[in-house]
Amino acid sequence: MNKRPRRLRYNPLVRELVRETTLEVSDLIYPLFIIEGSDVKEEISSLKGVYRFSIDRLEGEIHEIIQLGIKYVLLFGIPDTKDNKGSEAYSENGIVQKAIKKIKNITDKLYVITDVCMCEYTTHGHCGILNEVGYVDNEKSLYYLGQVALSHAKAGADMIAPSDMMDGRVGYMRGELDEAGYTHIPIMSYSAKYASSFYGPFREAAGSAPAFGDRKSYQMDYANSDEALREVALDIEEGADIVMVKPALAYLDIIRRVKDSFNVPVAAYNVSGEYAMLKMAVEQGLLDKKAVIETLLGIKRAGADIIITYFAKDVAKMLKD
Ligand code: PBG
Repeated sequence: MNKRPRRLRYNPLVRELVRETTLEVSDLIYPLFIIEGSDVKEEISSLKGVYRFSIDRLEGEIHEIIQLGIKYVLLFGIPDTKDNKGSEAYSENGIVQKAIKKIKNITDKLYVITDVCMCEYTTHGHCGILNEVGYVDNEKSLYYLGQVALSHAKAGADMIAPSDMMDGRVGYMRGELDEAGYTHIPIMSYSAKYASSFYGPFREAAGSAPAFGDRKSYQMDYANSDEALREVALDIEEGADIVMVKPALAYLDIIRRVKDSFNVPVAAYNVSGEYAMLKMAVEQGLLDKKAVIETLLGIKRAGADIIITYFAKDVAKMLKD
C-alpha cells in the first residue's frame, strides 16, 4: 500500500476540484455605521478602514459596496440624543430609519439588515430598559425592542437582527411583525452572544459602552458551550430564521456544535476586536493579507453559512484579483 500522502498528487487544479469549503462575497454581510449630522465621513480610529457616515455621505459608499459585489449590509445607528428609554431607536425619524429609506432610494440591489438593540440609544448604554433599582428589566425591554423592530420594518428594512439578548425577544418581535403585516421579514437572531472583550472597538465606534456595570446578566459566559445550544434552540422555537454565534474566532467550536445540532442557517459575527487585531497585523507587515482569507475560510469551515465582517470590502477586492 502506498503510504505517500495524496497531497503529492494535488496540482492546483486538482486542489480546486477537491476543495471542501469556499469563501464568496455572497457569504458576507458588511456592517455600516450611520451617524446624525451632515457631511460626515470619519474613520473609526479603532477600526481602520471603517467609517461613520452621515446620511448625505452614504451614496458614494453604497455604490462602492455594490460595485464590489457585496449584497448585504447590517446597519448600526449613532443618534444625536440619548435618553433612558432609547426613544431614538424606535422613532420614525431615527437615524437607522432614515438610513434605510436613503439606501432604498439609492438602490434596490442592497439587502438591508438592521441591528435591533438599545445600547447605542440609552444614556445608561445597556441593551434594554432599566427597572427602578437599576437592573435591566427583561419584560419591559421586550415592548421597546418590539417597537424598534417594527419601526425598522416600516422604514423598509429587509431583515432584522436582534442583538439585545433579552429572553423571549425573538418570539415577541415575530409576533409584533406578523401582526403588523410584516410576515415576510426574516429574523436573524444573535442567539449565542457572549459577554466578550472583543467588542471593545465597536463600543468606541458606536458610543455604546455601558455607563456602569457590564452585560453579564444578559450576555453569555464564555466558559459555556451547552448553554449556547439551549439559547439557539429557544430562538429557533421562537421563530428565528437564522441563528448567530458571536464572536467568531474564539468560538469556532460553538459554531461547529450549533451547525451539527440544528438544521437552520448559522451566521458568525467576526467582531470588531477580531478585525482590529488582524487588520493591524497586516498593516504593520507582520502578516500577509492572505491571513484574512484564511481566517474567514476557517469560520466557514467551522460551520458558518454567513459571516458578518468588517473585512467584507477587503475580501471582495482580494477575491477579485
Ligand atoms: C449591540 C451590539 C454590539 C455588537 C453588535 N451589536 C456591542 C455589544 O454587545 O456590546 C458588537 C459588534 C462588534 O464588536 O463588532 N448590542
